[in-house]
Amino acid sequence: MFFHQRHFDAAIDRLHSEGRYRVFIDILRNKGAYPNARCFAGHNGPKPITVWCSNDYLAMGQHPKVIEAMEEALHDVGAGSGGTRNIGGNTHYHIQLEEELADLHGKEGALLFTSGYVSNDATLSTLAKILPGCVIFSDELNHASMIAGIRNSGAEKKVWRHNDLEHLEQLLSETDPEVPKLIAFESVYSMDGDVA
Ligand SMILES: Cc1ncc(COP(=O)(O)O)c(C=O)c1O
Repeated sequence: MFFHQRHFDAAIDRLHSEGRYRVFIDILRNKGAYPNARCFAGHNGPKPITVWCSNDYLAMGQHPKVIEAMEEALHDVGAGSGGTRNIGGNTHYHIQLEEELADLHGKEGALLFTSGYVSNDATLSTLAKILPGCVIFSDELNHASMIAGIRNSGAEKKVWRHNDLEHLEQLLSETDPEVPKLIAFESVYSMDGDVA
């Protein structure tokens, strides 16, 4: 036990020394005052802060119609779904949302995931596993979730220089025309903010 503990301590120390030890900020958002929030770090009570890096781009999480619908749902069916799809079945609201999303995009169907990370990982790994001998071409600045999906597919991967179409064409021309190919890139690159 003591022997193993040393390895865990060393791993944590490494994170500190490489500047990779993460502490996530402890906050609550203020309804009706987007993008203001309260930060609970420290011991002097909550401190007012502004959040500029939310995914709730349009503040829909605070829209009166959204709040009203959630209140109604809480009183009708309670909180939470009672389990994953595997265990508790599909929640009717989620089915309705999937139908709405499919309609919005003119598709046969839609599938909700718990986060962008999970959807990218699941989609890329599934597609490339199904296509026999698939080769994936990936922009070098793709999000970590896409890289995880590509790795989890087990498919051969070729990385092209960021936004360099000539490099992509060169890699494509070096690949057997008969094998299925999947070209993976972003619409907006989240770290640099540039467009594909
Ligand atoms: C381009 C891109 N892909 C994937 C993700 C991961 O999404 P999530 O934070 O919902 O897991 C993000 C953002 O966080 C992103 O900006």
